[in-house]
Amino acid sequence: MKQTIKDIVMPIETAGLTFKNPFIVASGPASRDISQIIQAEKSGWGGVSIKLTIDPEPYISRNPRYRWLDDSDIHIFTLEKRLNLEQGLRLVESGREQTKDLILFANITYAGDKGLDGWAKLAKKFEDAGAHAIEINFCCPNMSFNLDAIGEEKEGRPSTGASLGSNVEVVKMITRAIKESVSIPVFAKLTPEAGNIGEVAKGAVDAGADGVCGTANRLGVPPIDIYNPENIVYRLQEYTSLGCISGPWLKPLALRDVLQMRTTIGSEHTIIGTGGVRHFSDAVEMGMVGADLIGVCTAVMLLGFDILPRIMRDLKRYLQETDRDSFADIRDIALPYFKTAAELTMITGYARVIDENCVACGFCTRIAHCNAIEIIDEKAVVRRDKCLGCSTCVDICPRDAIEMVLKPCTPAPSRRNPCRE
Ligand SMILES: Cc1cc2nc3c(=O)[nH]c(=O)nc-3n(C[C@H](O)[C@H](O)[C@H](O)COP(=O)(O)O)c2cc1C
Repeated sequence: MKQTIKDIVMPIETAGLTFKNPFIVASGPASRDISQIIQAEKSGWGGVSIKLTIDPEPYISRNPRYRWLDDSDIHIFTLEKRLNLEQGLRLVESGREQTKDLILFANITYAGDKGLDGWAKLAKKFEDAGAHAIEINFCCPNMSFNLDAIGEEKEGRPSTGASLGSNVEVVKMITRAIKESVSIPVFAKLTPEAGNIGEVAKGAVDAGADGVCGTANRLGVPPIDIYNPENIVYRLQEYTSLGCISGPWLKPLALRDVLQMRTTIGSEHTIIGTGGVRHFSDAVEMGMVGADLIGVCTAVMLLGFDILPRIMRDLKRYLQETDRDSFADIRDIALPYFKTAAELTMITGYARVIDENCVACGFCTRIAHCNAIEIIDEKAVVRRDKCLGCSTCVDICPRDAIEMVLKPCTPAPSRRNPCRE
């Protein structure tokens, strides 16, 4: 079915910018040349964050080697090509010339010896080239952060990406310097490696950032061939290294980053939620914990720019079903349901076997933490005195033969008014 403008339009105004919809191609290999930027606009994306520009010339920039590990929903890489200043500026210029209403973010890192002045001047060059916004790269874990992680000598090499984003004071200084040098919106793309991304986000907005972004990939060990550890996971590459993990695996962590940032910075500033988004429902979850805009990288790499019309179609249907007009209407609505562990209300109940479904397979009897279920006369039987109410047995039963029920109490419990522990 041919896509029409109406299908992909859902305007979002945030940080002084107008996006035709909340979806942005996140900085990465799908935003490194002009043909990709043109394709992103054709497919209907609201914005593109161009591939990281490092100035001076990237100190680690090599042909890519990626792996998509379908069975674990993991994308992993270490080697990657970055843009140099000239390439980055030309890309923004030609992107502005050849697109109409696509919002372009310049994802940048200054790696020279001019300190804050170097950062400020770099950002200004991108503003002059036509970038709609600056996205300061405080996130990439596969540059200096990767080397720091394996204890490599720091002397003489610049700190970049997640190494900078791990220090709130550095984030504040760089953000402030850039904010003073440009008049376009400034976003800080943050790493969770600092410990509390909410506090760093607060530092960034206090220093003037118009918005913050999560989440970049996490540094991890690629799968190891336990019989032949010399057979590394990457093709056409010798030896391995810590790798940047992204894709669906990342989503729960990415949601947490957005939630922590939103609850710490308050409602005023923009958040771009990124990490593991592939379907409209992933984006809705991001919105519900605080995201205004959604970044997508791995799903575009693997499935192409044309995933956007499908996501928009599904999102529009969902909004219609739930009687909402826009993506902005779902922002923050899950937040009131998040409490600390101490504040959670426990409902008193226990597991009950649905006899007609039970085939006495015995899976539930193996659960080690309660030992509350035994097989008697070819049926599972729950010992209520031992049942913790945890519900693991419901999840592992292959026959849907166990359910959780409310414990009788006075007055009689109901779904709306159960007995509470
Ligand atoms: C191969 C690759 C290269 C990336 N390069 C950049 C980059 O240059 N700058 C940046 O800020 N993030 C970069 N990222 C991170 C993504 O923009 C995104 O934040 C992360 O992958 C999580 O989103 P996803 O699960 O949709 O991929 C890269 C990710 C991948 C997979």
